[in-house]
Amino acid sequence: MSDTNAPVPAFRPATVAVNAGRPPVEPDAPMNVPVTLTSTYVAGGELEYGRFGNPTWTAFEEVLGQLEGGRCLSFASGLAAVGTVLDLVGQGQAVVAARHSYNGTVMQLADLEARGRIAAKLVDLTDTDEVVRACEGAALVWLESPTNPALEVADIPTIRDAAHAAGAYLVVDNTFATPVLQRPLELGADLVVHSATKYIAGHSDVLMGAVVTNDDELHGVLKGRRDLLGAIPGPFEAFLALRGLRTLHVRMERAQANAQELVRRLREHPAVEEVRYPGFGAIISIVLAQGALAADLLTHKTRLWVHATSLGGVESTFERRRRWKSEPATIPDALVRMSVGIEDVDDLWEDLVRALDTLG
Ligand SMILES: Cc1ncc(COP(=O)(O)O)c(C=O)c1O
Repeated sequence: MSDTNAPVPAFRPATVAVNAGRPPVEPDAPMNVPVTLTSTYVAGGELEYGRFGNPTWTAFEEVLGQLEGGRCLSFASGLAAVGTVLDLVGQGQAVVAARHSYNGTVMQLADLEARGRIAAKLVDLTDTDEVVRACEGAALVWLESPTNPALEVADIPTIRDAAHAAGAYLVVDNTFATPVLQRPLELGADLVVHSATKYIAGHSDVLMGAVVTNDDELHGVLKGRRDLLGAIPGPFEAFLALRGLRTLHVRMERAQANAQELVRRLREHPAVEEVRYPGFGAIISIVLAQGALAADLLTHKTRLWVHATSLGGVESTFERRRRWKSEPATIPDALVRMSVGIEDVDDLWEDLVRALDTLG
């Protein structure tokens, strides 16, 4: 006879992605959480007003929170989430950040520093000793791993020890890895940030951000900042992001397999001087042997690969990153960041190689 008091085993992450955050299973209940379009609620409950909460956000937050191992708050965009976290830093305190973090994050840090709000220390993520030394006296340590678009990987446990010894919060932007490949809270981070615009939503049709923490006090502070500053997502955006999140595991599995195969083939191609790939995930950065002009040509000569910024959608996109003035000069001029989608890998390769071959 089965023991009805035995603990119910927790579902594995791919099951959580599909199953969590759904309405209770009962006759005629909808399978999916509805898009709750309302700016206000009948008084007397916990929500009261649309800036304070929305059932469609809650469902999304439930799923991403469980996948990352903490409590999630959704935001209007990735940068809204970044800004709300950086706002935790007190007046004049120091923030250590990876020099090659997403350039919007670096621009926020520069803006805060220029206004005398914080002191920013930008470090080379590949030099763990440098990062550890910089942690002394810091209030917050900001890692992005892998970085966009240099694809550098941080030694999170070592940096966590240094950050916590200094009394600093450790934040990891997990946009590139997603909780499928890396769970920073389990590695000791205090906060995880996402541009949910990318893999979490996964279909290039929505902008959204998220912060996850397993520290209830931090969650309360950040929720208070979101209530007050109002960087909230729309309910329809939350619905789309949740719908995307349901298939995160299969999308990541396929996109990563495609990326690994393309890396193997790109390494053999004479037009490609360097292939940067951390060994996991679905972003590849290549440096073209013939320079920036060849990189620009490549991005205009394909039929399938779309020349576009952003990443993490089901479709493959690419761009020369230095076409953006804000990208630092330490990123090679001829670097093309490739976001590998879930198409047939042979179609992706044939399209790419046809364009690469014309570069000579
Ligand atoms: C790693 C990373 N973090 C944050 C962001 C900002 O997110 P959003 O564009 O959703 O504001 C991006 C956007 O490209 C990103 O790549």
